[in-house]
Amino acid sequence: MKKIKLAVIFGGQSSEYPVSLHSTASVLRQIDTKKYEILKVGISQDGKWYTYYGDIDALEHDQWLCADMCKETVLSCSQAYKGFLELEADGTYHHIAVDCILPILHGKNGEDGTIQGLFELSGISYVGCGHMSSAICMDKEMTHIVAEHAGIPCAPYICVYKRDAADLKKVYEDAKAKLGLPIFIKPANAGSSFGISKVDGFEEFAKGMSEAFYHDGKGKVILETTIEGFEIGCAVMGNDVLTIGSVDEIEITNDFFDYEGKYEMVNSHIYCPARIDEELFQKAQKMAADVYRALNCQGMTRVDMFVTPQHTIVFNELNTIPGFTSTSRYPSMMKEIGIEFSDLIDRLIALALEK
Ligand SMILES: Nc1ncnc2c1ncn2[C@@H]1O[C@H](COP(=O)(O)OP(=O)(O)O)[C@@H](O)[C@H]1O
Ligand SMILES: [Mg+2]
Repeated sequence: MKKIKLAVIFGGQSSEYPVSLHSTASVLRQIDTKKYEILKVGISQDGKWYTYYGDIDALEHDQWLCADMCKETVLSCSQAYKGFLELEADGTYHHIAVDCILPILHGKNGEDGTIQGLFELSGISYVGCGHMSSAICMDKEMTHIVAEHAGIPCAPYICVYKRDAADLKKVYEDAKAKLGLPIFIKPANAGSSFGISKVDGFEEFAKGMSEAFYHDGKGKVILETTIEGFEIGCAVMGNDVLTIGSVDEIEITNDFFDYEGKYEMVNSHIYCPARIDEELFQKAQKMAADVYRALNCQGMTRVDMFVTPQHTIVFNELNTIPGFTSTSRYPSMMKEIGIEFSDLIDRLIALALEK
């Protein structure tokens, strides 16, 4: 059988760069190399692209970026050269054709539709959501607008642009009146809980707003009513026909599921499947599928929700390129329904090629 030429793209100009390295190492260790001819493409934190010929350990430990293991490269958008152009030291380049791209990039520049637009122009199949749905899922205001339009229950919210936040006291008073206390402050475009805070008074609010604006980069912040209860997630895969994975549950012992909780399991524990009754479990799976459709997702997405003390489900957010280590939530939820890690990768690539 002819091998599929697969470019695995890792790193990226994003605060979630380290997460990408861990996810990529897991994928490279478990992907079936009998089926794929793999080209590893790294994007440095300052946005330079390289083809990488070193081993997986160096990649995982962020020691991949050195001259003897890398060559500068660019993704061609010309249909005359579909694939990558690798630049040689003497100024010449050679063309590397690929059949499919697997981006394992999180957050800004990787999950927000920008690179997906580039993939579209390249004419090469790629794993995951298209550029528009990636952009909408990344932006918490746009996600709210589209999900609410589709009748999905979300937390009450206010969107604040920096240009309208000169009188912060007024913003706070309006938010307190509409949303109640405590208020969740979130950058509209970030991830991994960067720049998020839960606040109860004006001083904390002012500090939280400046943190959130710092992490957003586009001057947009979302304020939300605090949803009581606990968090669950559901893994969804597919283009036209959907495979709905299991539902997991997050147990946290501090204010919210923060960076350390997510990646080092500090003050947090994940149960898969979630310890909820069958009816609620099915409701969560249905909501996940509805959100996936409403946001026009393709390939894969992890849908995060809350279960309230009244046993209702409130949608929180979507992750179009969820964490991909072998213990990450998305692969664990798929494993729970019988889809092992390497099979999951095969299916995601097949979905990309079928688009
Ligand atoms: N409205 C809310 N009510 C209660 N907890 C929230 C709310 N919004 C966010 N959180 C908490 O903050 C965490 C991060 O928020 P989230 O919207 O998922 O942003 P990110 O994109 O950074 O993951 C969530 O996992 C949850 O623990
Ligand atoms: Mg989240």
